[in-house]
Amino acid sequence: MEAGSGAVVTPASVGEALAEKIRARTARVGVVGLGYVGLPLAVEFAEAGFPVTGIDVSESKVSMVNAGQSYVKDVESGSLGRLVESRRVRATSDFSVIRELDTINICVPTPLRKTRDPDMSYVVAAADEIARHFREGKLVILESTTYPGTTDELLLPKLARSGLQVGRDFFLCFSPERVDPGNPKFNTRNIPKVVGGVTAACTQMGVLLYSQALERVVAVSSTQVAEMVKLLENTFRMINIGLVNEMALMCDRMGIDVWEMIDAAATKPFGFMPFYPGPGLGGHCIPIDPFYLSWKSKQAGIEARFIELAGYINGQMPHFVVDKIQNALNEQAKPLKNSHVHIMGVAYKRDIDDMRESPALDIAHLLLKRGSRISYSDPYVPALRVDSMELFAQDPEAMAESADCVVIVTDHSGAPYGAVVEKARVIVDTRNALRGFRSPKIVRL
Ligand SMILES: NC(=O)c1ccc[n+]([C@@H]2O[C@H](COP(=O)([O-])OP(=O)(O)OC[C@H]3O[C@@H](n4cnc5c(N)ncnc54)[C@H](O)[C@@H]3O)[C@@H](O)[C@H]2O)c1
Repeated sequence: MEAGSGAVVTPASVGEALAEKIRARTARVGVVGLGYVGLPLAVEFAEAGFPVTGIDVSESKVSMVNAGQSYVKDVESGSLGRLVESRRVRATSDFSVIRELDTINICVPTPLRKTRDPDMSYVVAAADEIARHFREGKLVILESTTYPGTTDELLLPKLARSGLQVGRDFFLCFSPERVDPGNPKFNTRNIPKVVGGVTAACTQMGVLLYSQALERVVAVSSTQVAEMVKLLENTFRMINIGLVNEMALMCDRMGIDVWEMIDAAATKPFGFMPFYPGPGLGGHCIPIDPFYLSWKSKQAGIEARFIELAGYINGQMPHFVVDKIQNALNEQAKPLKNSHVHIMGVAYKRDIDDMRESPALDIAHLLLKRGSRISYSDPYVPALRVDSMELFAQDPEAMAESADCVVIVTDHSGAPYGAVVEKARVIVDTRNALRGFRSPKIVRL
């Protein structure tokens, strides 16, 4: 069902009153968790005219928001500052404000434990606080990526303990966040928003809220479908990256240029979508979310074998890169031990500052373990901790001159590749960043 801002029909007047406030954009909107997902969402609601309260356990983020200073690259301090000044956005760490709020979007982290089991502690903590200050007439939407069943099995019982009835006295939905930090074309406002509620009235209320602020809302029939949508999307990416990484390993063994092969395959106008190999998975989504699904499907008696296999292959890539560096140095009659390897780009992907799960950390760790000296450059990451070592960003051109080997791990735009190719002794390029260069110094993945 494609949704616009059509009339919401709920069985009771509580719902009608809430719908009225949402339509009038006087509903007091709350966003719990003001990170990469929550802050841009809070700004979109405020831009649409709602009074927005952000709630975060981090005092420093709360102070920065209230000072109009953005710490998320996709949100400009200028626009945040204007919204704070006009009292459209405020932030607090005091959860008692929940009593006054009409809608609450939960955008807290959902990491994995060391055992690759879901760590639901942030969602549980946020839900407990919401339950503590719960009142009738609220719409609660979980946006954190999670396993199917979370909204109905974990959140609903906590909120229903109030004695209120879902779909009549309050409304509960799941809506996956699909934001792609650093993407200049797609942002919170123009990425279609999928939403599924516990009841049909819940779905309608969720659709009504989002359609005030976002360009397109897609309703689905349940919270579980909405939860699974996000897992399908990210599992699709993870498995295709695993496939193309395996292709890269095969091509390396057979002496075939994997990049040229993919570019040629991508000329097929149907039935093929290019994915590219790389130094390993990074970020808060692709390396993590599929394991939420495999954990849940194991409970349902199904082994998620594609996910496990892709996870294994992707996990091998940092080792493969370090082997490539070692071989490249051997060719120069230099052992990896005691050699200086300069890592160019450490954020988990191009043009962002996010280091979460970055493969650069694995590569740096493996290099140190094999006894090499390391340095790094990254315009977005001024300092970095690897094992117990504190590193500071260096000038890539100066490092290219002094290092024994340069490895390009993240291909930020505008990097001085020409000078690096000129000055470096040998370069291992894991991203095909040097596609326009011809030089015997360049070793491609
Ligand atoms: N970053 C992305 O690109 C992205 C994309 C799509 C979906 N997601 C999902 O969205 C969710 C949030 O991710 P993120 O990248 O914004 O994380 P983040 O770490 O940037 O932000 C989470 C925020 O929640 C706060 N927080 C933690 N516990 C809290 C609590 N109990 N109450 C209030 N605030 C609390 C943290 O202080 C932090 O500011 C995750 O489930 C993630 O998988 C992230």
